[in-house]
Parts: sequence; structure tokens; C-alpha cells
Amino acid sequence: MGTRWNASLPSSGGQCANLVGELSPGTGILSLGRASAKPAHGSSSCSPSSSCSPTASSTRDKGRGPARAQAAEDGDVEPAIDDAVHLRNYPAMMRRSTAAALVLLAAGPLPGAESAAGQPAISRAPYLQCATPTSMCVVWRTAQRITPVVRFGPSLENLSRQVSGAAITTRVGLSANKTEVQLFTHRWPDAATLPRLHSAPAGTFQYEAHLTGLAPDSQYYYQVFDGDRPLFERGPSYHFRTHPLPGTPKSIRFGTFGDSGTGREKQRQVWQALIEFTTRDNRPMDFFLHLGDMAYNRGRDIEFSTRFFAPYEATLRNTVFWPSFANHEAYTSKGTTAVGPYFDAYVCPTNGQAGGVASAHEGFYSFDYGRAHIISLNSHDEDRRPTGRMAQWLKRDLAQTRAEWIIAFFHHAPYSKGSHDSDREKQMIEMRTYIVPILEAGGADLVLSGHSHIYERSMLLDGAYATPTVSEHVILDDGDGDPKGDGPYRKPAGRVPNAGTVQIVAGHGGATIRRKATSPIMRKTILDHGSVLVDIQGDTLTAHMIDIHGDVRDTFSLVKRGAPTPMRLAYPWVPAPWIAAKAPPSSDEIGGYPPDSYAELIPRNAEWQYLAGDHPDGDSWTKLGFDARWWKTGETGLGYPSANADV
Ligand SMILES: [Fe+2]
Repeated sequence: MGTRWNASLPSSGGQCANLVGELSPGTGILSLGRASAKPAHGSSSCSPSSSCSPTASSTRDKGRGPARAQAAEDGDVEPAIDDAVHLRNYPAMMRRSTAAALVLLAAGPLPGAESAAGQPAISRAPYLQCATPTSMCVVWRTAQRITPVVRFGPSLENLSRQVSGAAITTRVGLSANKTEVQLFTHRWPDAATLPRLHSAPAGTFQYEAHLTGLAPDSQYYYQVFDGDRPLFERGPSYHFRTHPLPGTPKSIRFGTFGDSGTGREKQRQVWQALIEFTTRDNRPMDFFLHLGDMAYNRGRDIEFSTRFFAPYEATLRNTVFWPSFANHEAYTSKGTTAVGPYFDAYVCPTNGQAGGVASAHEGFYSFDYGRAHIISLNSHDEDRRPTGRMAQWLKRDLAQTRAEWIIAFFHHAPYSKGSHDSDREKQMIEMRTYIVPILEAGGADLVLSGHSHIYERSMLLDGAYATPTVSEHVILDDGDGDPKGDGPYRKPAGRVPNAGTVQIVAGHGGATIRRKATSPIMRKTILDHGSVLVDIQGDTLTAHMIDIHGDVRDTFSLVKRGAPTPMRLAYPWVPAPWIAAKAPPSSDEIGGYPPDSYAELIPRNAEWQYLAGDHPDGDSWTKLGFDARWWKTGETGLGYPSANADV
């Protein structure tokens, strides 16, 4: 169900423009249309005193300074969508002020806490976490307390097993307001004793169901219940496959990108192209690695809901997304303490239960998938030095694993000249100086990163730790790695230290693409949005860059066979220097320049009449002259930073 808008807006000439709009769930698209025009005078919905206060706007900007400064640096500023997108898929309860919620709570059931059919509202749809060969975690949220049950089995018709009670961890969102806590705990007495969600809307319950005793590499279907009542229809898309046992010679396919969480069209296109690609060749992803910056601009709980969980919802229910912690999530979450919306959302293996050494920390962890060992690192606010706990754990983890393929992923690219320069930023320099040597000594094959909004893919390299990065004596193969071009990169069979690594910067998942220069170790640099799809089959790893049109823009393979002797090239192939265009880059929706000629349809602090949580009758609301006086009225930040973040 979309959220419909009908707005009266002051405009020049003493007229009020009457606009209608609709936010479509699942698309994030706001449709606008002009419905009517009427005299401004005497219209309560066009009161300048209530709708044009500059003070209100500046109030909200307080506290957003650092975030906006960083976002501007990243090219991620997108105030036009900031408030509007928050509405999508959100029940009315989440958009209401605390005071209003308290009044309603005291008065009776919370509107929006139940769907029209009387079902408890699912405020975050089911998604999968922390997969192992014998277990899976199903996570979801509701806007009221339920009796959580997950039924599961080998087929849709046979959901004969179930988890409930203590096998499901329940967390609750409660504010620090004592009155609010009293009211909520009066209704749900156990809420006071439940572990808290960091900043979820008050009255949000999150359930983490641990399905155990599963068979490795096996297909299961599941359905979520409130007691005996299903929360959604049983369907074939609610399924998962457990991981194969470590060492199992099974093909692997995973997707990856970072810097996606804008809620904008490019994010949707990137994802659609990737899904269509895997659907076309009938080979879905086994899992997905997210390289961070998944919920712009501040990693708030609501931004996670609208910019991560909603866009990927249909895949999250059957494919595990493994996360890595990044700077935009760090505005509201703290990596060193594992507290905040990011850590509420994810259930990561900290006890070594998915393979590897226990990290005891959700900020960095590892897991096995067949013959691959995959490592997620916190490049943002964890100590990156060799003496730090992350580097120490990484050494132990690499020493213990018997996997043939080592893949690491984290946010800050060790090598990039995209929107961020790896020769200038501390995190990027330190990941290259301190962490990459550990990975390469551990036989890493592939390192995936983001932060820099661009696609860059290296040659086969080893030992490029200097600042600034140079290519002399660190390139082991300066070909393009394409089986149909210069041929694949070759490494010895098994896992051999310092035999060559390929670095991919995949910060092209949705945010504005930018480039500063050319990294000398990169073989391909593509200034376009897209994703990366990696396949491992036998002794060969192949990666494709897939753009928003579904076209493969880069391919390379890595073959681990025999005992090739690496050659350290003194003067490897050198990529062409980057010459920036003289004219400003054209806007791709975010952080761009306004056109030369445009009309302002929605003034700052315009007042809107809106209908939320209900369907309007017919389509009369989209027509000229629609009488929206009985709809609610409120100021909107639509198109601007606003004091009213709830609209
Ligand atoms: Fe970033």
C-alpha cells in the first residue's frame, strides 16, 4: 500500500498549487502530479506562518553538520529523498512523535500496529543471517508483541519442524522516556526484561529465530507465525540452503557491491540488473557480501529499513547478506562496542560457529563456504595496526583455516583513485599498510572493498604496501586476466602465501560515481554503476562486473593449478592517466547540478494534506478539484532538509 499525498502549495501569483503524490512500496518512487489551483488567501493549508519558517529548517540541520559534511565529501548528499523515502513501507506508528504515540497507546491499540486484515504489522520482513552448515537464523520485526514461531521443513508442504520460545531471541525498541517505558511494559510486561534495540521505534519487536540441527547443503522452506497464525502467506520464495561442509568441492556464486544505500533509482537499477543476470542463467547467488555504506546518510534504523531492507527484501528472505561495517553506518553505530542500528540488524558469527576462529566481536568475523574462507573486517573504527585485536585475530584465523580460497571484504579500499584517494585517507592507507600484508601472507586470492564510488579492478599483485602506491615490482601479471583476452591469472594450486591477489573496488552500488585519478595497479577502471558477481568452480575463480543495463563490462579469471613461477615485473603495463572533463559532470540524481531552467514545484516547508495508513476511494484524489480537507495536514521536508523529519 502506498502513501498518498495531496498538497496545497503557495506559489507565485497568489495561487496555491494543488499537487498529488504517491510513494510506491517496493520501488521507492514518488509520483507527483498537479491536481488543481486555488486562491491562496484564506486557505489554512497555505499559511506562510506555519509553513515557511526558516527557523524550523535550521533546527533540524543542527547535529547533521558532520554527517552532511562527510556525505558531501562522499558525494552522497540527497536531501530531496531524505524525508520522503522514510515513509515507504512504514506504518503510521513509526512516523508519529513520541508524545502522540503515548496518547494513542493510552487510548487503545496503536493504529498501524496491525494490518487491515487484523494481522500484526511486519515492520521488517524476514531475512536470513549467520548461515552455517547446520543452522540458519531467521530475523524479522513486528510493530507489536507476538508469540514468535518459525515452522520449517524440506518442502513447502512439509514444514514439520518448528522453533519457538527460548530458541528465538526477542529484542524490543524502547526509548529512554520513563512514561513511555511504563506504558509499553504495562501492555507487554516482559518488554522491560528483553534486550533492547538501539534506536528502533518504540514498540518495535525484533525476533531472531535460530534454526538448528539442519543437514548441510540442504534446502529448507520456512514460514513465520504468531502462535498458530501465519504472518504471511506460505510461498516458495521463503527458503534457504544451508552451507556445504568445509572442504566440499561445490561451486560457489556470490554477489557484492558497496555504497548502495541511497534509496534512489540507481540503487534499484543495479540490483535489478544483477538479479536478472542470475535469473537468466538460472544460477542464483549462494550469498551476498555487502561492502558497507548500506544506509545513507547516517545508518539510522529507519534508513536501514527503507534503504537496505526494503529494496532487497525479496532476496533477503532466501539469501544471506553478510555485512561489513562502514563510515556512514558509523554515524549511529559504534564498531568498537558493537552498538547501534547496524548491530541491531545483523547477527554475525562471533564464536567461530560458521567457520574460522571466534572473533568475539560482530564488527569482524569469518565464515566458510565449501572450499572458501571469507573474512569481513571493520576498516572504519577498529584498530587497524598489527598490534590491534582485529589484526591479531586475522593472523590466527588465517593460520587455522584449511580452505583453498581466501576472500576478504571490508569497506575502505586499499587502492583507489575514485571518489576517495587511497594515498590520502587514513583508513585506506592503514588497511593497505597493515592489513593487506597479513592477508597476502595468508594466501588471499581476492580482496573486495568499497567506499570509493567507482569500479576498479587490479592486476595480479603482491606487496604493494607503499604510499603513494606504485606498480613497479609489485605486479605479478599485468595482463587483463580475461580468459578471452590475455588469459587468466595463474597461481599455484592450493593456498600459497604471497602468490598474488586481485583487488576489486566495488563502491558502485548506487551512490554517485566519481573519479579523481588513475591507480597504477588497476587493470580496469569503470566509471559506472553496477555489481560484481563471483563464481568459483573447481580451481578457477571468475568475476564479472555487471552494469545497470545487465551488460558485462569486465571479466577476469584466477586459475590455481600446477606450480607457476610468479614473475615480479619491474616495469609492468601502466594504465592511461585520467583527464577530468572540463565541464561539471552531469547529474546522476545525487549531488548533481540543477538544470539551467527549472520551476520550483515544491517550496521549502510547504504544507501538505496527506492520507497515511489507508486507501483512498477510487482515483478522485488524483483529479483536479479533489477536496482533501478531511485529510491530515502537515509540513513536509520533501525536497529539502526539514525540521519535521516525520513527514
Ligand atoms: Fe564510505
